[in-house]
Amino acid sequence: MYSPLFFIVLHGIFLVCASNAWSSLKSIPRKTIQYEDNNVITFKGEGVWNYSTMLIREDLGLLVVGAREAVYALDIKDISVAKSEVLWKVTEEKQKECTSKGKHPDIDCRNYVRMLHQMNDSVMYMCGTNAFSPTCDYMTFGDGQLKLEGKQEDGRGKCPFDPFQRSSSVMADQDLYSASSLNFLGSEPVILRTSPISLRTVFKSSWLNEPNFVYMDVVPESEDSPEGDDDKVYMFFSENAVEYDFYNKLVVSRVARVCKGDMGGQRTLQRKWTSFLKARLDCSGPEPSLPYIIQDVFQVRHKKWRKSVFYAVFTSQSSSTDRSSAVCAYDVTDISEVFSRGKFKTEVTVEMSDVKWVTYNGELPVPRPGACINNAARSAGIMRSLDLPDKTLQFIRDRPLMDDAVRPITGKPLLLKRGPLLTRLVVDHVTVSDGQSYPVMFVGTENGYVQKAVNYDGEMHIIEEVKLFQNAESIDVLRLHQNQLYAGSASGVVQMPVSNCSRYSSCLDCVLARDPYCAWDVPSQRCSRLPTSPEDGKSNLIQSLKDGDATRCPTTAPMEPKILSLVLGNNIRLPCYPESNLAQVNWNFPGESLPYPKKKYIIYNDGILLYNASVSDAGRYTCTSVEQVKGRDYTQTLAIYDLREQSAVVVTDKIKTTLGILPEIHTTSSGLHKSEEPPWYSKTQSSESKWIVMQVALAMLSVMMACLLIWNLYMGHISPFMCCGRRQLIKSPRSLPEREYMHTGNDAVDSKQHMVSLCVTTNSGLEATSFHRNANKGDTPTDVCVFKYITDESEI
Ligand SMILES: *[C@@H]1O[C@H](CO)[C@@H](O)[C@H](O)[C@H]1NC(C)=O
Ligand SMILES: *[C@@H]1O[C@H](CO)[C@@H](O)[C@H](O)[C@H]1NC(C)=O
Ligand SMILES: *[C@@H]1O[C@H](CO)[C@@H](O)[C@H](O)[C@H]1NC(C)=O
Ligand SMILES: *[C@@H]1O[C@H](CO)[C@@H](O)[C@H](O)[C@H]1NC(C)=O
Repeated sequence: MYSPLFFIVLHGIFLVCASNAWSSLKSIPRKTIQYEDNNVITFKGEGVWNYSTMLIREDLGLLVVGAREAVYALDIKDISVAKSEVLWKVTEEKQKECTSKGKHPDIDCRNYVRMLHQMNDSVMYMCGTNAFSPTCDYMTFGDGQLKLEGKQEDGRGKCPFDPFQRSSSVMADQDLYSASSLNFLGSEPVILRTSPISLRTVFKSSWLNEPNFVYMDVVPESEDSPEGDDDKVYMFFSENAVEYDFYNKLVVSRVARVCKGDMGGQRTLQRKWTSFLKARLDCSGPEPSLPYIIQDVFQVRHKKWRKSVFYAVFTSQSSSTDRSSAVCAYDVTDISEVFSRGKFKTEVTVEMSDVKWVTYNGELPVPRPGACINNAARSAGIMRSLDLPDKTLQFIRDRPLMDDAVRPITGKPLLLKRGPLLTRLVVDHVTVSDGQSYPVMFVGTENGYVQKAVNYDGEMHIIEEVKLFQNAESIDVLRLHQNQLYAGSASGVVQMPVSNCSRYSSCLDCVLARDPYCAWDVPSQRCSRLPTSPEDGKSNLIQSLKDGDATRCPTTAPMEPKILSLVLGNNIRLPCYPESNLAQVNWNFPGESLPYPKKKYIIYNDGILLYNASVSDAGRYTCTSVEQVKGRDYTQTLAIYDLREQSAVVVTDKIKTTLGILPEIHTTSSGLHKSEEPPWYSKTQSSESKWIVMQVALAMLSVMMACLLIWNLYMGHISPFMCCGRRQLIKSPRSLPEREYMHTGNDAVDSKQHMVSLCVTTNSGLEATSFHRNANKGDTPTDVCVFKYITDESEI
């Protein structure tokens, strides 16, 4: 009964520790590419949602995409071209049946395609949830057309009933390995092989305990194996731990494996796996926390299977309080070592009913429990798993869990990130100009971004984040094929090149990006895609991935100042767009730098606003950015403005300055927009003429009011005895227009947060004072300062 309290206390401790550790972690993407600038190719089927399954058919040049009640064959070179589609709808009868069991007709009782595999050159196999009645079918592609065979097969154990439940599967030599559930409630998990000899897991909590399956893949371990070992199928999932007893539900991440040649046992474990072993998968940050939960895996295959690596993305267990994620990598050999040589855990009973899992130190039966049939077994006359002795089989039936956890390569995460959770990943191995090869991780997030990250000798570096979907929707599937990235979400599919080097506009930008795909080409003066070809003069390319050393970059010609006229009493905006979110922007003001004159400037991420200009504001304004990489400071001049005083312009005939609205200022995110909008400023009045304008305005307004009143009386809108007219005739827009502000920090991408800039009074520094608040519609900020001068006619 101590557990809830203990949990809270423990959790509290973890959080305190965790927050300390996180504060030292920088995981800010260097660049943020907004949706408007992402240059991706998009596909959306008319009225079709939930694009969660993908199959690459290189032989046909297709990306086959499974969605809700539809499958598309898209041109893999340009996915906006749909070559063919088939609809796979639920029958009315099935839908009724599903609804009568209390499920939502439009959400649950539809057919979500959740599995798509290639069987042979001509046939594909797919399964869908089919209104909580999982069903599979065959599909062909011929004469440019997809065709559903209509041979409906039972999909239980292959595809979940519930569209919100995860499952995974892999096709190996026409045998389907799948991890899903067998019943309507989703409470009967199974890892199944559908083949002439079908096998499944034992229904025991020591085997699978409320699992969430995320990934499965084959490793050809029989290849040049001196022990005559078998190929393995690895599966990754999270489940409730049985081995920790300090509180009720603790979720842990697991890797499990079975042998491909497994045929089950003769008496014990009949038609069950005799080679099912599982181990805890470890991926922890710098400080103790609840174990991270696995979300997706990607295998980087190597010709020699021993060099293959599994990359996995994890998220924090209590995502309500601590939204952080991690990527860890595991050597196949480290995993197989734990299974083939590690100790087992065993169950012991303490105090009558309580059970504990402890290290098993007794003698192991021979052959070793869970091992595939190898040369040693064969020489002892055990040719198939059916020949295994009962002792070995009983051992594995009761103790599938290994004592050791699998540790990640280098012992720690390759990427740690706070903020919106990471959901899926793919990894590309890039060989660069110096012949070395680096894994580049593309990680999808829950809010529609892809993060492109590298780990350089323990240093995590997020090259960029790209917003792929307009809405903050989760990336549900990611695939990589020939330098193209394909991502699916609830609303559609996008295709994006792994890199667009032309986004790096200068040598400094190109080199400091540390993007393995790109290098600065000195002769052509542009950031180019690698490899141009190995023979191409390497000396003409500048790339420095580990060091981020841009000292070889040619010096650029000094920048010409832009001349602007200063009109007294005006508000003037001076834009300045830093190339990197990691750069610090500095402004130099006429005659002084820091500290800033009081109440004079509003400093945004991408410029400053100078209000109520006076004579003393004339002069030169210089915006520079300083980016620090590996202890070196790279300073760059981004903009120079010469503000020159101009004699005052006389009274204009329009009411311009009496309303207190601040015109729209574009504070789009990190300011990586290259569009140079001209600074807004315009001609108004000197202080003497203002008084006249006010008077004129007041007079005009009075006349207008009088006219209106008369007109209204005449039209009968107001009775002469009513005193309350229509108030909104004179609107007083005192509130600052609220606008979305995408912060550049690591919690950058939380679009729920809006930021409103306050009037800066500060002595302190480089950033505008700002506050976060939730975007409640109709809730206007009250304590923002009101600008007295308006310069934009459109606001009137
Ligand atoms: C790369 O980016 C540039 C500018 O941002 C854009 O014009 C171009 O279309 C992009 N190229 C690709 C292949 O997306
Ligand atoms: C492909 O697989 C299907 C289903 O197993 C089978 O019926 C068909 O004959 C196979 N076709 C070829 C060309 O192997
Ligand atoms: C399907 O897409 C809708 C959005 O259109 C989303 O609300 C829902 O959660 C998705 N369902 C699944 C099972 O992903
Ligand atoms: C604008 O500046 C002038 C002097 O330069 C000052 O008299 C005036 O009060 C200022 N107006 C506002 C609104 O700050």
